[in-house]
Amino acid sequence: MNILLLGSGGREHALAWKMKQSPLCEDLFVMPGNAGTAQVAQNVDIALNNFSGIAHFVIDNLIDLVVVGPEEPLVKGLRDFFALSEKLRDIPFVGPSRAGAQLEGSKDFAKEFMHKHKIPTASSRTFTLKTLYEGLQYVEKHTLPVVLKADGLAAGKGVIIATDTETAKSTLKEMLENKKFGEASEKVVIEQYLDGIELSVFVLTDGEHYHILPTAKDYKRVGEGDTGLNTGGMGAVSPVPFADATFMQKVETKIIKPTLAGLKADKIDYIGFIFIGLMNVKGEPYIIEYNVRMGDPETEAVIPRLKTDLVSLLAHAGTRTLDQITIEEDERVATTIVLVSGGYPETFQKGFAIEKLDEVKDALVFHAGTSQNPAERVLTNGGRVIAITALADTMEEALAIANKGAETIEFEKKYYRRDIGKDLM
Ligand code: AMP
Ligand code: GLY
Repeated sequence: MNILLLGSGGREHALAWKMKQSPLCEDLFVMPGNAGTAQVAQNVDIALNNFSGIAHFVIDNLIDLVVVGPEEPLVKGLRDFFALSEKLRDIPFVGPSRAGAQLEGSKDFAKEFMHKHKIPTASSRTFTLKTLYEGLQYVEKHTLPVVLKADGLAAGKGVIIATDTETAKSTLKEMLENKKFGEASEKVVIEQYLDGIELSVFVLTDGEHYHILPTAKDYKRVGEGDTGLNTGGMGAVSPVPFADATFMQKVETKIIKPTLAGLKADKIDYIGFIFIGLMNVKGEPYIIEYNVRMGDPETEAVIPRLKTDLVSLLAHAGTRTLDQITIEEDERVATTIVLVSGGYPETFQKGFAIEKLDEVKDALVFHAGTSQNPAERVLTNGGRVIAITALADTMEEALAIANKGAETIEFEKKYYRRDIGKDLM
């Protein structure tokens, strides 16, 4: 099969690395890719908002399977664009239509969906500039802390947890009146704070059937001990020790099944990943958010634990035959540590040479923000630069290996959290 994978992060390197191991994989292209995907696939320099460019590439290269990594092309309607073309509509495509992608593209839509289908989530209400006054009154009466969320995509920055009413009110005004997050904060969801431990659950569905992938926990804050600003993710572990069979049974019956039934009831034909961000509140699962893709860096921990042939799995999703394949998990623990550019998630420099990548032999080294210069040197090219994944029988061993790898690889202003996974041991 000729495969096109869209995206350029650590997630895509992990997916491409796994796809490449499949006997079904013929030509593998990653668009636009990074220096890591270039080792296992052919990078294609076409921007992800250039839908007609993508379409021409797919036709010219006889692509048999399209897999979308990030949410943005989905929210912008790439699948719908393919559905309009006779030449493209029958090519298996893993990723939902614009309607389905609203689960991530609009927090207001997602909350409405959950409330309507009685899926456990924090109580909430949505306000706009027109209803700002009511919003301020709502905040005034709300218990603390209170969570304010920009409705649209805001690169992980659109969530503010306010611990006092004055901050909550001024934040609401800034978001609605001053458009703090641009168009994304034209609507603001105000919701109840959920106190618990977070985890990520990944579902792959073909619209009829589904499989649950290994669970993972992400470390979002930049600082050790979960302090400082939110990032895309500084590390991950899989599986999540507290997500035992009893808890996962609840997740399946109270969260996953009603979500898929809700999509069907609302006539949203969904093929792709659903990433469910959950809070475990005293043993009960509540949804914090839906994403319409795999998580990053969770993918770098989850995919190495997948024994199933990834190409076969995704092709079955694309052809609505997921019932004909099973998922096998590696029993070992995976831990992922992300090396970032100093300064991230605020300002940071790019273009530093990355050294000693080849010296890490016992862990997997996935590239995130990297590029290659004409002299074939690998350079830093983003906030999150490298994700190192170690597999071992215990979390302790896996962390020791991943930490050793994190120490070995060098680039100027390298930073990483040394406490990934420690809260779970
Ligand atoms: P999101 O962009 O929805 O993933 O939110 C970013 C982070 O904010 C989440 O990963 C949680 O840590 C936190 N968060 C979001 N909603 C809530 C909530 N209702 N209660 C507690 N924490 C939340
Ligand atoms: N690691 C969280 C995310 O991918 O959104």
